[in-house]
Amino acid sequence: MKKIQFKGGTMLNPVPVVLVTSKNSKGDTNVFTVAWAGTACTKPPMLTISVRPERLSYEYIKESMEFVVNLPSEQLTKKVDYCGVKSGRITDKIKDMGFTLSPGIEIDCPIIQDCPISLECKVRSITPLGSHDLFLAEIVKVHVDESLIDKSGKIHFENAKLINYCHGEYYPMTTQPIGKFGFSVQKRK
Ligand SMILES: Cc1cc2nc3c(=O)[nH]c(=O)nc-3n(C[C@H](O)[C@H](O)[C@H](O)COP(=O)(O)O)c2cc1C
Repeated sequence: MKKIQFKGGTMLNPVPVVLVTSKNSKGDTNVFTVAWAGTACTKPPMLTISVRPERLSYEYIKESMEFVVNLPSEQLTKKVDYCGVKSGRITDKIKDMGFTLSPGIEIDCPIIQDCPISLECKVRSITPLGSHDLFLAEIVKVHVDESLIDKSGKIHFENAKLINYCHGEYYPMTTQPIGKFGFSVQKRK
């Protein structure tokens, strides 16, 4: 393999792309698109999102210290893009996209019903990094579309048709696994 070198850059690909909802103290809600998101800890369950301070969502999240990460499925791709190119400062994206909201259970921030999975989050720390601030948050409640859960209680994320974001483009996810956790060392029965 002959490799070409580049200067340091945000080349971690693919990543999930998510819709983050937030609410300010006046009760205004907003949604924006986030690709710089990641799982950070198992116990307590935590994730991070990186947000530029100029975003309206930044203001709302910093005020309430809460947000919801909604995982969109592929039929929402155009809406995901829209929420990432328009600011809530100029238009009501929730109304524009016709999203149905329902209240959070553990936090005072709505989830998007149109998304099959939603994670209610409470911010635990905010770290300025440069262009973005890193919000570390605890996942305090998880909502999953019941059609993704089988009789044994297993959640089939692979059937949710979630979206991968890779170097500026959106890609669908396949339902066929190419391995599973630990299969490399599993003994044949
Ligand atoms: C695919 C995609 C991924 C994005 N990821 C991020 C991100 O991780 N962090 C961020 O601050 N902005 C991100 N943005 C940009 C914001 O979503 C965009 O600036 C949005 O208009 C902000 O909305 P708001 O001002 O209503 O909060 C992304 C945009 C797109 C299209």
